[in-house]
Amino acid sequence: MPQQVFLRDAMRRLNFTRDALAQRIGVSRRALDSWLLPDESPEMRKMPEIAQRFVLEILKRTSIDTQDVYNHPTGNSESGQHLLSVDGYTRDSVEALLRVADIMQPVARRQKTTRVLEGAVLANLFFEASTRTRLSFSSAFARLGGSVCDTTGFTFSSMAKGESIHDTSRVISGYADAIVVRHPEQGAVAEFARATHVPVINAGDGPGEHPSQALLDLYTIQREFSRLDKLVDGAHIAFVGDLKYGRTVHSLTKLLALHRNLRVTLISPPSLMLPEHLVEYLARNGHHVEQTHDLPGGLKGADVVYATRIQKERFAQQETLEGYSTDFQINQALVNATCGAHTLIMHPLPRDSRPGANDLSVDLNFDSRLAIFKQTDNGIAVRMAIFATLLGVQDQVQHSLREVGWRVPVYLGPEEEVPYRDQ
Ligand code: CP
Repeated sequence: MPQQVFLRDAMRRLNFTRDALAQRIGVSRRALDSWLLPDESPEMRKMPEIAQRFVLEILKRTSIDTQDVYNHPTGNSESGQHLLSVDGYTRDSVEALLRVADIMQPVARRQKTTRVLEGAVLANLFFEASTRTRLSFSSAFARLGGSVCDTTGFTFSSMAKGESIHDTSRVISGYADAIVVRHPEQGAVAEFARATHVPVINAGDGPGEHPSQALLDLYTIQREFSRLDKLVDGAHIAFVGDLKYGRTVHSLTKLLALHRNLRVTLISPPSLMLPEHLVEYLARNGHHVEQTHDLPGGLKGADVVYATRIQKERFAQQETLEGYSTDFQINQALVNATCGAHTLIMHPLPRDSRPGANDLSVDLNFDSRLAIFKQTDNGIAVRMAIFATLLGVQDQVQHSLREVGWRVPVYLGPEEEVPYRDQ
């Protein structure tokens, strides 16, 4: 197992920050940081064997057996082999999946290749617009060695001729080894799953859920918090915008609820508040929940600001955007006035960047607190982990890695301060 994966897994299981682990094993934070770099980084240092034995000893005394959760990567006994919702995940099963995502990082970051899904076919069915989810699921499957066939929109599928979800799903089961579905109606992806034993992944069902997005969001929070020496337990998370229809928020609040003592601030116009059952779910799990329409007041002291787009396409005919004024935009001036130096600014994207839109402003593009492209980059490793675990090849990845044969850019975007490989 790569040293980085071993140490990140140890910190997750022990719920230790980097400072706490460094202190416990008696090394400097700087030394630990150099051990935590990927094997491919020139700055990476090998940890001494005695330090590794010490970490193993601490784990042995406190560790849980994670073997079972790898066997049930969706964490969901009801839906079996499918990933339809985040319901059913436990903290251990989520962390086991995110550990597999760590193993995928050298492939996701184009330092290594693998062919563990060679010969497998993914059917990518998107009946609603998408850029990230559709392309990153395709890219993740291809980077595991598989191939992808797809259909986009109702117009180019025989559903336009009245074919049922049941028939469509059963037919595609004969063509593909995994099925990813996005559909505008809540519950429609579950209907696909009921007609097949091929694994079905919910890529967003109307205002319902978007489990893979929530998993990559949590993974991003964990990775960034690790760098900042913070834990998710005890954090202050502020959700902003359309909390009524924002399916990524619905899934992420449930995953966050698996943690301890969160302060969750829900900031939205009165007409777009988080559904009551999710507010109650957070409160029932011991978290402190505040609901407000005051954006600057709600952002104060937040460790994470999770902004969302207003999903006008989901509004019922009579619904209006009452209370959503221009003051509702998250921009550089507001972030500087209300957030700390280490607040993470997140958004599932897409954001509406047209003039007059009250979405996350582009004037934050070069602010180091902005984590939106870390989220999209992390989506590849997390979606690879989902495929590998659903198809049962997660244990083969490590031994299958080969060097890449093409030239890879050191930085992917103009905002990056650290080489992509080392992030
Ligand atoms: N976050 C997300 O679901 O983006 P797309 O709609 O582009 O897939």
